[in-house]
Amino acid sequence: MSAVNIAVLASGTGSNFRRLVEAERQGQLGDGKVVLLVSDRPDAPVMELAASMGISFFAKNPKMLGGKEAWEQQVREELATASIDLVVLAGFMRLIGPVLLNAYRGKMINLHPSFLPEFKGKDAIGQALLAGVPETGVSVHYVSEALDGGEVIDQVRVRMIPGEDRDTLEARIHAVEHELLPKVVKNLCDKLIKEK
Ligand code: GRF
Repeated sequence: MSAVNIAVLASGTGSNFRRLVEAERQGQLGDGKVVLLVSDRPDAPVMELAASMGISFFAKNPKMLGGKEAWEQQVREELATASIDLVVLAGFMRLIGPVLLNAYRGKMINLHPSFLPEFKGKDAIGQALLAGVPETGVSVHYVSEALDGGEVIDQVRVRMIPGEDRDTLEARIHAVEHELLPKVVKNLCDKLIKEK
């Protein structure tokens, strides 16, 4: 039976990567199958997670390969070899360049911890706390040339609790991400399977 093959790009802890794999194993991704983890940080905790969950991975620092373009070219080959249909950025901390964008435009999404277009870029949670806004949020959007600027697919508001510290807010945002991301991925897989 045909599946929608998913690659996750991540550089950090990987809680969203873990959630996606669990969602698939619980039958919550429809035809989606997480088959590859790609990281630019071979020492990232998410790599151990991939190994422990039995997911193949590609992890090289762009510097090891002579720069971003060479890294993207090699990643593009890895994605092609694994017949990847959908690329999910979950805590991937680099701007995607033309090599990967041209290969996966409209099939590459990013998870961002704010209600876009609010608080783009690094440390969106810290930005929201500093701004003292009453609510922030979580967004999933298509990846484009612009930092956190592609079309929003779905987003959820998260209310700030007065006096809340950063760790608590971050945990609540992660909990919302863990619901939203598998839902969006499943919807995209439902569409992509029809094109196969
Ligand atoms: C998430 O908050 C995501 O929105 C942002 O990076 C974080 C990754 O968390 N882009 P994790 O590594 O999945 O736990």
